[in-house]
Order: sequence, then C-alpha cells, then structure tokens
Amino acid sequence: MKRERSRSEELFLRAAKVVPGGIYGHLAPAGGLPGSFPNYAASGKGCRFMDVDGNEWLDFLCGYGSSLFGFGDPEIEEAAERQRREGAVLNQPTERMVELAEALTERIDFAQWAVFAKNGSDVTTWATRVAREHTGRSIVLKAKGAYHGVDAWCDPGFGGRIPEDRAAIREFAWNDLDGFHSLLKECGEEIAAVILTPYHHAAFGASEMPADGFWEEVESACRSRGIALILDDVRAGFRLHDGGSHRAFGFTPDLSCYSKALGNGYAISACLGREEFRRAAREVFLTGSCWNDAVAMAAALKCLELGPDRGVVEKLDQLGRRLGSGLEEHASKHGLPLTMTGPPAMPFPCFEEDENLYSMQRFCESCAEKGLFFHPHHNWFLCGAHDEAAIDEALVAAEAALAEMAREND
Ligand SMILES: Cc1ncc(COP(=O)(O)O)c(C=O)c1O
Repeated sequence: MKRERSRSEELFLRAAKVVPGGIYGHLAPAGGLPGSFPNYAASGKGCRFMDVDGNEWLDFLCGYGSSLFGFGDPEIEEAAERQRREGAVLNQPTERMVELAEALTERIDFAQWAVFAKNGSDVTTWATRVAREHTGRSIVLKAKGAYHGVDAWCDPGFGGRIPEDRAAIREFAWNDLDGFHSLLKECGEEIAAVILTPYHHAAFGASEMPADGFWEEVESACRSRGIALILDDVRAGFRLHDGGSHRAFGFTPDLSCYSKALGNGYAISACLGREEFRRAAREVFLTGSCWNDAVAMAAALKCLELGPDRGVVEKLDQLGRRLGSGLEEHASKHGLPLTMTGPPAMPFPCFEEDENLYSMQRFCESCAEKGLFFHPHHNWFLCGAHDEAAIDEALVAAEAALAEMAREND
C-alpha cells in the first residue's frame, strides 16, 4: 500500500513555482525513485526519519552518507550546541580549526596539513588545482563514471558546460590498468594528477572493489612520474577505516578529500596533504564566507573522537554483513538471485540480469511501502545508530517484498 504523501506533493507543487525543477540534483524525485518516497523530510533520530506526512522510515541512505553515527547523535549535538553558544561564523577562524587540523593530521597517517571547506566538491576541485600548481602540468586522470562533485570538470550533467572545461580531463575504466597505462603513454609529461575514489561506487551500477595490485600499480606509476595521487574519500571516508580509506586498501595518496561523515551532517569538508604540497596549497586561493564555521568543526572534532571509541567501522562492517547475507538468502529462497556489491558498510545490491534496474526499482518500491528507505540506484549506507534489531526489522520487511515480487513473477 502506498504511503501517505499529500503534504510532500503539496510542498513540491509550491516549490516548483519558486525553485527551478522543484527539487534539484540527485535529490529530485526523478524517474526510477519509488512512488512512495517522500519529497520532504521533517525530522531524523538515529537510523530513522519522519517525513512531512508523518510517515516513519527505517533509513539506509543516512543523508547520502553524511550521517555516520545516526541523525541527532546526542554527544555530537551537545558539542555543536556548546560551540553554537560561542559563535559559528565569526571574522576569524576559531581555536576549533587549529584543533581539527591537528586531530586530522594525527589521524591521517600521510598528511602534514589540512584545509577546510563546506562541500566535497569544494575540496576535490581545489585538490586538482593544488596538483596542477605543484606539478606545473595540466591533465587530470579520473575513472569513467566516478562522481567527484558538481564542478564543470567532473559533473554528470550537461548544462552550462564548454568544451574547455574538460579539455584537460582524461578517463580510464576502473581497474583497467592497460587503459591507465595507455593514457600515461599518450599524455606523458602533462599529467598533474590522478583522482580516484578508494573503490568504484558509481551510481546506477554495481560497485567495484579494486582488483589485486590495482592501487599498488597506480601509486607506483604516479610516484615514478611525479604525478599527484588524489584520493576522493568524500563518500567512503571514516566508514571503512578510522584513518581514511587508503588504509583499508593499503596505498598512500598525496592529497585526500573528506566530507559527508566528517561532520555527521554538519556541513564541512577537508583536504589533507603531504608536506611537499604545502607550498602549492598556500598558492591556490581557498576561501568561503562560511567555511570557518566553528559549529561544524566542533561536530567534526567530536566525530573523530567517537569513531574509534564506539568502534563504528567494525560495527558497520558487521551489521552490513548481516544485512547483506540476510538479503541474499531471502532473495535466493524466492528464486530472485541478488548479490551485494561494494563494502558491507555501504553496499550496492544488484539483481541478476537487471541492467536497467527494473527489478531493483520494484524491490525498493515494495520496501518503501513497508517503511524501508532503500535507494534503487545509489549505494546504501549503514550508520552507528543501526543495530541488529533494526537490521532484522529491515530483513523481515525486505523478505515480504521479495515474496511479493516472486508471486508477481509467477
Ligand atoms: C566520491 C564523491 N566525491 C565528491 C562528492 C561531492 O561532494 P558534495 O556533494 O559534498 O559536494 C561526492 C558526493 O556525493 C562523492 O560521493
């Protein structure tokens, strides 16, 4: 049964008059999203949120990954509230900025400095410019289909772009080392940077882990040619390893970018780098009116402390395995082969022979009618507020959805 969404509809119609497209970007209620998904949320607590029609959702998107500890975590909220009373955006940065740079450079093993902004895109773009300044070269290599943000050099849209925006961008397929080497051969001395996510988590398709030797070879090719290796850890950062995802995959970047989980929903991003890149980091202009926001920095400091204290990485891995194996088992019992791809903490499930995602959309639609927020074409996220009971509750609803799908297929 579809869930009530009259208030969501009403708000969307109002928005359509005053906001281009009503809701824009990847949050837009585009084709392929379950008809029961709400357009507007009202509040969130732990691993659940309420929409504007009063429906409760058991959430597996976690604010597109920004909620690592759950919505409204009391300790993080208290740290943020304490800072809010002192001030958020003042004329100067606050002590929080120094503390956060110290905490991050201690946590991220290869980095000697850190800078801060608000969004992932701010720092991925800035990192490519630091690489260009450092190397004096122009070309940036990226993986096909990888998302690095909204700027013209990498956004997945088409609007407002000129050919020059991508003139110095080259792409190779994830894990395709032959393709990577032929670009190195072709562009030789002109490559400033290779920017990659720790594993391939493109939307609308299975996640791909790095093949054996992939990172080793990329890292050594970059080192031997003086190319900057940029890790875009905006989505996975602090979910796979407390010390950054490069530790989970055993390589060392030159620059790394974080956002999402860093502030548990408080808008903050960071780029960290090796000592050699400090001069370039000083040269490439970096600022934003609200980028010194001390509330987000206080929240991030608390998150860095809570991650290891609460063992959040291990917890997400265990819960993700419970969810993944449960879903695979239920699906196979109903003759609907389903495979989880990507790390258990941020899985992307795929039905067999479902390239157009039709089965995934049906499954997520049916789950949505039962109060489960499973996204049909973006990887899911677990958070520290999930527990075994929440996973088991999700599995019961998911099994009912799979049983319905199997009946409909007969
Ligand atoms: C890997 C990756 N890089 C960069 C970004 C851009 O971050 P933001 O949306 O905060 O600008 C995202 C956002 O989803 C991302 O997943």
